[in-house]
Amino acid sequence: MTSVLVLGVCSLKGGVGKTSVTLGLASAALERGLRTLVIDLDPQGDSTMALGARPEHGDVADVLADANERTIAAATVLSSWADDGLDVLAGSERSAVHDRLQSTDVDRLRFALPWIRGYDLVLIDCPPSLGSLTRTGLTACDRAIVVTEPGLFAVMAVGRAMRTIDELRREAAPSLQPLGIVVNRVRARSVEQAFRLEELGNLYGPLILQPFVPERAALQQAQGAAQPVHAWPGAAAAELAKTFDGLLDRALRAPRR
Ligand SMILES: Nc1ncnc2c1ncn2[C@@H]1O[C@H](COP(=O)(O)OP(=O)(O)O)[C@@H](O)[C@H]1O
Ligand SMILES: [Mg+2]
Repeated sequence: MTSVLVLGVCSLKGGVGKTSVTLGLASAALERGLRTLVIDLDPQGDSTMALGARPEHGDVADVLADANERTIAAATVLSSWADDGLDVLAGSERSAVHDRLQSTDVDRLRFALPWIRGYDLVLIDCPPSLGSLTRTGLTACDRAIVVTEPGLFAVMAVGRAMRTIDELRREAAPSLQPLGIVVNRVRARSVEQAFRLEELGNLYGPLILQPFVPERAALQQAQGAAQPVHAWPGAAAAELAKTFDGLLDRALRAPRR
């Protein structure tokens, strides 16, 4: 692969599965031998922790304050998932200040991209809002995934996330395009969910990405142990691994810069 795909994972709400989708895609990319960087833009730093990354000399807040070769190198650490091939641009509580900045500053991370070299895939795990930190993340992206659950309020939240992507496209991020909507925590026998899935399908049609991500305790277990789901034992983990392989396939079919 000669070009890099920068893929952002966002949603209006917290707890819908942005970090889980980011980690699942990172696990699939590692399995496939893609050189991958996860940028943890969430001040909570969940993906940094689940990827077993231990920043010592800097983090993403330093990069947002002043993007250059030195701050980026200092903030980039190896994930404990593998000896090689998976790096993390470490998250930071201090990145929260960037959520309060003016919208004119949303290209701070995009300006850092020329120094982020040697990767096939860059995944950006966004914070749980559509504030300026998420906008800063999306402005650096070629493609964006909106994560949702098949619930009552989720459908409206997806609409707002899609409109934000559209708005950014027309302003700071002309190369940004929605990849689509990942539906997470799907339970096979829920009547309410079946109704919401149909509603999402009617509203967004081909933007609904397949396969859906099932709700499985194995996902939380792997995350808690800071392990990739592809390395976790059991049938549920294997099913999740296959799901993220499918979603990664879909993402890689998108044209690259
Ligand atoms: N498909 C799933 N099956 C089981 N647990 C899940 C699933 N998706 C997310 N979770 C759990 O739900 C919680 C919130 O998910 P997370 O990915 O952290 O959401 P977000 O990053 O959007 O805030 C985490 O504890 C995560 O392990
Ligand atoms: Mg998260």
